[in-house]
Amino acid sequence: MDFHGIHFPDKDEPQTPGKKLSEGRNANVYEWGNDRVIKLFKSTYPSEKITAEYYNALAVKNLGFNKSVVCELKKTEFGFGIIYKKIAGENMLDYILRTGDLKGAATELASLQKKINAFSFDSSKTEALESAHQILKNQMLVTKKADSDATKEMIRFLGTMKEGNALCHGNLHPGNVLMTEDGVVALSASGYCIGNKLYDVAKTFFLIAYTPVPGEQESSCCPGCRGISNMEERKEFGRYYLDAMGKTATEIGGYLSMIIAGM
Ligand SMILES: Nc1ncnc2c1ncn2[C@@H]1O[C@H](COP(=O)(O)OP(=O)(O)OP(=O)(O)O)[C@@H](O)[C@H]1O
Ligand SMILES: [Mg+2]
Repeated sequence: MDFHGIHFPDKDEPQTPGKKLSEGRNANVYEWGNDRVIKLFKSTYPSEKITAEYYNALAVKNLGFNKSVVCELKKTEFGFGIIYKKIAGENMLDYILRTGDLKGAATELASLQKKINAFSFDSSKTEALESAHQILKNQMLVTKKADSDATKEMIRFLGTMKEGNALCHGNLHPGNVLMTEDGVVALSASGYCIGNKLYDVAKTFFLIAYTPVPGEQESSCCPGCRGISNMEERKEFGRYYLDAMGKTATEIGGYLSMIIAGM
């Protein structure tokens, strides 16, 4: 059991963030001392989402796959942050930009996801992670008219789909993967949940293939954009990825519709 109550500062505890590693929509990531990073959330980001990411990260911390290992949830004078162990590696988007190796990257991404999806949970016995169906339902209810016939129909259809009990990353795309000497490592704990593997594959496929490229809609640009600079490359990457996962567009179609319905 992880102790995550009071953390006594060690003598080397940094007082201020170091070099900025990334600028995101909801958080910026900085070095934190020599061997850690801090993901500092913007003041507009809801605190319940920060604690949800922290508890997700704790839930998977001891599972045997390469991931960004969580250390603590921290209140700093710069806002709330989650501290993770620092990983030395190249972001998969930068790797793609440098090498153009779409097929190799897609294969690595798929191999990491298969390892994650191989873990299963009895969702009736764990409260640590939300179910993918609950996440999909909530997204439809907050983004669409909750009482519209279309939303009701989508939610009814979701209820007919097999829930599954696999660990899903929920936010796996090349921007959330570092390539290291020890293999590929998953970042971002915000989307971990329990569900059907097809949900996770559909979510990654969506993040790869359906999000706008830079210049199209700058404001809603997602982290999956950088590096895969045009729609044709995205589609190609998506095809390599599905092949490597051993899934077809038809198989993920149901979950893809549910994800799009929640946008
Ligand atoms: N543990 C880590 N070690 C080294 N670099 C990291 C680590 N965690 C994050 N980074 C760097 O910061 C970037 C952003 O991290 P992360 O994906 O967690 O934040 P985000 O994109 O803002 O949020 P999210 O993906 O959860 O929506 C990563 O792409 C990576 O370059
Ligand atoms: Mg990210």
